[in-house]
Amino acid sequence: MNRKVLLIAISGYVGGAFAQQTAWGQCGGSGWTGATTCISGYTCVYSNDWYSQCLPGTAATTTTVVTTTKKATTTTTPAGSSPTGWIVPGAVWLDTSGVKIDAHGGQVWKVSNTFYWLGASVGTSIQYPLSWAYRPKMFKGTSKYFIYGQVNRLVQPLSSSNIVGGYSLAGSAFSLPPYSLTYSDMGIFQDDDGKWYLATSADGNILQINVINGDGTLGTRLTKLGGELEAPGIFRAGTSAKTGYRANPNKVYWATSLSGPWTGPADIAPEDQNTYGSQNTHELVIKGSAATTYIYLGDAWDSSGTSASNYMWLPMAVSTSAHTVTLQYHAMWRVDVNSGVVSYPTNSKRYDAELAKLSGRAAITTCESCVSKRAVHQVDISSDVTFTGLIGQDKAQWVSIHYKVNDPQAGQAHVYINDEPTPRNISDFNSRAGYHGEIPIKIHLKAGAVNTLRIGSNGAPDFELHIDAVEVHED
Ligand SMILES: *[C@@H]1O[C@H](CO)[C@@H](O)[C@H](O)[C@H]1NC(C)=O
Repeated sequence: MNRKVLLIAISGYVGGAFAQQTAWGQCGGSGWTGATTCISGYTCVYSNDWYSQCLPGTAATTTTVVTTTKKATTTTTPAGSSPTGWIVPGAVWLDTSGVKIDAHGGQVWKVSNTFYWLGASVGTSIQYPLSWAYRPKMFKGTSKYFIYGQVNRLVQPLSSSNIVGGYSLAGSAFSLPPYSLTYSDMGIFQDDDGKWYLATSADGNILQINVINGDGTLGTRLTKLGGELEAPGIFRAGTSAKTGYRANPNKVYWATSLSGPWTGPADIAPEDQNTYGSQNTHELVIKGSAATTYIYLGDAWDSSGTSASNYMWLPMAVSTSAHTVTLQYHAMWRVDVNSGVVSYPTNSKRYDAELAKLSGRAAITTCESCVSKRAVHQVDISSDVTFTGLIGQDKAQWVSIHYKVNDPQAGQAHVYINDEPTPRNISDFNSRAGYHGEIPIKIHLKAGAVNTLRIGSNGAPDFELHIDAVEVHED
């Protein structure tokens, strides 16, 4: 049988030269040559002789595991006609009760008609008796559901008879068989025969894959990949970065059997894009009636690893013949969970900046890459561009702002929405602000052609925006 299994793993960045380690990053341990102090608000906490990590605040703070569920369409929905909501990389993502989703380093798992999103909360939600459980992963054993969390570089299992809620510690934390290794990151994978596997970045940056037993314990090691590999996972693969919440150029390896041999690596994103500022947590495969869609699930961490962090979910182009995996960047996309088909906004109204009201130094200029071939530039701290008459539907709607900045480090764009007296930074809606030419934000628009958006900037005196258009999405 010619079964293709792809494993994504990261290489490089061992001992990265940060002056101060980023949140959650390694800050000590045998052989560690990188930073030994942490950024503000984080403390370097000893885990064992090989590993110390930057943890928030003091050791008294806790990070806990929560589950967040996200409903898929039901079986009563005709296949192919009911996509999920928009997936907007970098945007704030609210749950169905309007609360920002805080579930990082986790996994999305489909059980019958529901997709369950598991992640570690870096905010305040306290659900399970686990402190410092990183990169949680869930699976079903013979008779129970399990969550594996990383605690002090050991696997701490929790179990429950229900998929959501009721989890309690299932025995002590354990190291990786067969050599009692500790590890930093983990990814989980369920094969087509229903068996589960754990991929870990074990001591010495060895990526290893172990069988998960039905009773929730870890079994035989199937394979290992040595060398500079830093982090593991499977999609049929997944990954992470042990140097902290720093984006790395993720790599793909492939094999026809989980036991190897593995071939690779190859990049999954252009190297200068560093997986678009994100850290991979899991790969989700949607096998639909018309297409199979492979989805990269990444965390878009803010600079200090707080609950202000967002998500980077992107479809991946996978070639099983060329053995390549490439992230497909889209500012907005969605997948129909029944058909597996990916689609993009089609029902949008565009408002060009050159037709808007300009103030200060803002001036019309030519723009070869713009739809209308014109745009507005020189939008500095004392200038703005006011779009009026935007048609809304009296609800929260996605509005794409098409703009570029001359230096994303030097300032940022902000927007006054209708009568709001103070501007809101676009980065508060979407952490890709300043880093991509189209930034969708979700805002409430009034009914009719009565909405106003005034876009300006704040930052250094020479910071400028180059605004092409805004686009109101109606679907
Ligand atoms: C927007 O960002 C600037 C820094 O660029 C900051 O000074 C300001 O407080 C932010 N505004 C809001 C409303 O958060």
